[in-house]
Amino acid sequence: MLAATAVSQSATDPLSGLVLREAPKPAPKPGWSIVRVVASSLNMHDLWTLRGVGHPPERLPIILGCDAAGYDEDGNEVIVYPVIANADAGMGDETLDPNRALLSEQHDGAFAEYLSVPTRNLVPKPAWLSFDEAACLPVAWTTAYRMLFTQARITAGDRVLVQGAGGGVASAAVRLASAAGAVVYATSRSEAKRAQAVAWGARAAVPTGERLPEKVDVVIETVGEATWSHSLKSLRPGGTVVIAGATSGMNPPADLGRVFYLQQRIIGSTGCTRSELVAMLRMMEATGLRPVIDRTLPLEEIHKGFQLMIDGALTGKLVINPPAPKQ
Ligand SMILES: NC(=O)c1ccc[n+]([C@@H]2O[C@H](COP(=O)([O-])OP(=O)(O)OC[C@H]3O[C@@H](n4cnc5c(N)ncnc54)[C@H](OP(=O)(O)O)[C@@H]3O)[C@@H](O)[C@H]2O)c1
Repeated sequence: MLAATAVSQSATDPLSGLVLREAPKPAPKPGWSIVRVVASSLNMHDLWTLRGVGHPPERLPIILGCDAAGYDEDGNEVIVYPVIANADAGMGDETLDPNRALLSEQHDGAFAEYLSVPTRNLVPKPAWLSFDEAACLPVAWTTAYRMLFTQARITAGDRVLVQGAGGGVASAAVRLASAAGAVVYATSRSEAKRAQAVAWGARAAVPTGERLPEKVDVVIETVGEATWSHSLKSLRPGGTVVIAGATSGMNPPADLGRVFYLQQRIIGSTGCTRSELVAMLRMMEATGLRPVIDRTLPLEEIHKGFQLMIDGALTGKLVINPPAPKQ
């Protein structure tokens, strides 16, 4: 089968380590299911692996791709819950299992014609979602869902700032928070993406770092160094920053005086539980929300897709379609 495999890592030229080549179809094993992948989508996580961040070189080569939707062996339409973990080891929460692994960290990922995952990770795909839409949800959308509803516990009327609104997680956060009745503010470096954020339901969108019309209750952070100071300054006393990523850098000044004097809360967030994925699907069915797809590319053009992501040229998710298997 055709697969996009990480074979080496480079901080400066990450795509040099990504090769499209034939790989063996995964073999069946007890408790695991084989999924024929119809759609996957890009995440920054794949680029971190190619840059050598958070992925030891001993785990190469590995097929990349954290998101998948397709058919199980019985022909059922499924979405793949992407965290391979023992919920009991995380006291009921898969994301707190110290040995959890996102798809493509320890097991081959979804940029391929077939994928092998624990059968428990299969979630029925609702008929009202296309495969391309379904493939946007498992990582970016569920991360945004957990940040907003589990970590920050937003309710209607809350003021929520989403940093870097064009990103996969951030665009999901704008839509989910707006659908929940929050007053959403967004930032983006791009005027076109700011206009998009308003079209998705944000009350206003301002250039990155610009002062907001009012202080907010919650900030959704995935940008990191480039926006951290603005996040803390935008928060009301007692407000909460939820952080799930740091695309622009991991180590901004901590500004500890502001944090303790204004009693700000900083909450880290990673992934989601299987139950949160199911709960988000229920919310999407109830509200009619659908993911924002920038474009869809065949697996053969995956390098072009990653280059667009590196260039910051995407608004929402980029979907990847592997070739249909030969009969
Ligand atoms: N913890 C988790 O479970 C989890 C899950 C998913 C993602 N993440 C992390 O979250 C981050 C975002 O992931 P993603 O897949 O959403 O990536 P993405 O689609 O590439 O989005 C990144 C966004 O960050 C903004 N940005 C990047 N560099 C910036 C800079 N120098 N200044 C200002 N804004 C900048 C951009 O916003 P504008 O172009 O609109 O300005 C861009 O849209 C990544 O670091 C990823 O690893 C973590």
